[in-house]
Amino acid sequence: MKKIVCMAVITALLGQAHAAGVTLSFACDSVGAGYQECKKGADAWAKKTGNTVKVMQVPKESDQRLALYQQQLGAKSSDVDVYMVDTIWPGMIGKHLKDLKSDIPAAQQAKIFPAMLKNDTVNGKLLAMPWYTDAGMLFYRTDLLKKYGYTSAPKTWDELQAMASKIQAGEKKANPKFVGYVFQGKNYEGLTCSALEMISSFGGGSIVEPDGKITINNPKAVAGIKAMANMVGTIAPNAVTTYGEEEARQVFQSGNAMFMRNWPYAYAAGQDKGSPVKDKIGVAALPAGTGGKPAATLGGWQLAVNNYSKHPKEAASLVAYLTGAEEQKRRAIEASYNPTMPELYKDPDVLKATPFFGSLYDVFVSAVARPATVTGLKYNQVSNAFSTAVYSALTKRSTPDAALKSAASQISRAKGRSW
Ligand code: GLC
Repeated sequence: MKKIVCMAVITALLGQAHAAGVTLSFACDSVGAGYQECKKGADAWAKKTGNTVKVMQVPKESDQRLALYQQQLGAKSSDVDVYMVDTIWPGMIGKHLKDLKSDIPAAQQAKIFPAMLKNDTVNGKLLAMPWYTDAGMLFYRTDLLKKYGYTSAPKTWDELQAMASKIQAGEKKANPKFVGYVFQGKNYEGLTCSALEMISSFGGGSIVEPDGKITINNPKAVAGIKAMANMVGTIAPNAVTTYGEEEARQVFQSGNAMFMRNWPYAYAAGQDKGSPVKDKIGVAALPAGTGGKPAATLGGWQLAVNNYSKHPKEAASLVAYLTGAEEQKRRAIEASYNPTMPELYKDPDVLKATPFFGSLYDVFVSAVARPATVTGLKYNQVSNAFSTAVYSALTKRSTPDAALKSAASQISRAKGRSW
């Protein structure tokens, strides 16, 4: 009798465990529709597999997320099973991430842009699966472009400055809040991105080159930062030095800016029902600097499994599902997240929802990488030195010249004998 009761209890427990599955914690996104979109995908996987996913609240900014995750991972915490990982992180937190090479179907891996898989592969280990890619873009108001007699978006920063200043002067009469241009000007990783594409568009290199050479202190880079600093207080409000992605988007989306530098997610957000700028948004490549070419900083996010997770199999299954073609397609259509699979840039449904994925394809595949791979664990110091220097130029506490000189010496100290 005792034995039978015992068996019944065990069977019931097993049955329960099976029915309930496991509960995974997922540290995902919080910018724009990020949280809802993560939750939709995670819930779909949970329903399919009988597991549960708790999508966590995470800081908005990349650097703040990194600091928090470094603390958790440094303590070998198993609290979070799946992390959404910035494209610049694999070199910094890679040792805490599970090798996904044998968890993700080979056919799925083969569909990803090779350069993105390479970025996430360290010492032969696939430490994260590319989920969506990002590139800096120029958003503009199509209605105002027409109203002021222009036929296309500016091709150079000089043109942008002239157009923005004319339109700002005109629009300000009826709307004192109106500004010509908004971008990410606060001192954080987003400023590293917006300033890198400025210097690169003037032919000023990429701070530290892929061979490890520190090139930030050069006249073309100075010209790029000069052009950027000239915007603050003229076509961009002084407050732009407190803007991240979302602050810039709020100004643009509420109808108070002509141009905006932002990532592709801002398109779907601006096209949302009830958005004051719905159907008035144009998207173009960012302008070229004097004597240079247009440049966009490469961004993007991956999904990774915590090495200390108690449910590595289920966590890897969630990553495989979310980074698969079907879910990437849904996210591209609903929230204009750039897929990491070339085939989706030819998908008629994706192109119908987000036409610039087709027309600006070259911008996405030729975007400029931040020097994260070459600087490895020291990337944060490099990025901090650069964004702090640019910030001091934007806030007029330093000349662009002196600012980049000081960034170069700090970066050189961080490098020491080698990267
Ligand atoms: C975007 C990019 C990411 C970058 C961040 C900076 O999220 O995808 O790579 O680090 O912006 O704010």
